[in-house]
Amino acid sequence: MTVPTQCFRNEHTELSGMLQILEGICQAMESEALVAAEDIADMARFLENFSEIDHHGKEEDYLLPELSKIGMGADHGAVHKMLLEHQQALTLIERIQEAIAGMREGRNRMAEFCDASQEYISMSRRHLQLENEKLFDPLDQKLDPVSAESLSATLSSLQAEDQATGRYQSMHEALDRLRSRYLA
Ligand SMILES: [Fe+2]
Ligand SMILES: [Fe+2]
Repeated sequence: MTVPTQCFRNEHTELSGMLQILEGICQAMESEALVAAEDIADMARFLENFSEIDHHGKEEDYLLPELSKIGMGADHGAVHKMLLEHQQALTLIERIQEAIAGMREGRNRMAEFCDASQEYISMSRRHLQLENEKLFDPLDQKLDPVSAESLSATLSSLQAEDQATGRYQSMHEALDRLRSRYLA
């Protein structure tokens, strides 16, 4: 049986992995362990590109029209919350990026980096749970079979396009590399 939101669910697993890594990076910084600038840059690139641009962009472009088919339009509580949290996540990513830029210039922005990261981690975890339970579950249960098949095919083909460009692969290599360093 087709699970139309399977691609989104798989991406949530990857995003959760990066949130754990970000938590590990902050813990390492707070215990004054050495954290390579390259690791922070890779983590931030993943969050900005994979989470904010690719994943949220796909949810807004492809999930919203399907949700409205099952009676969950933009004014539905969970849908409204999802969109609001996408904006909040962008603001937090900007704060994280600004702190990273400050550290690169030699300023002490570690506390700000960890504060913004912690807020981002907490909000994102709630966000992933909200989407899994309040958006994906009802969509998987109620979407008509033709629309379900079509959504699943569209998401799979977008993933195949990303794989063909090598972009997807490089982000996953970064995820694996960082996992081995911070989640040992
Ligand atoms: Fe989202
Ligand atoms: Fe999501």
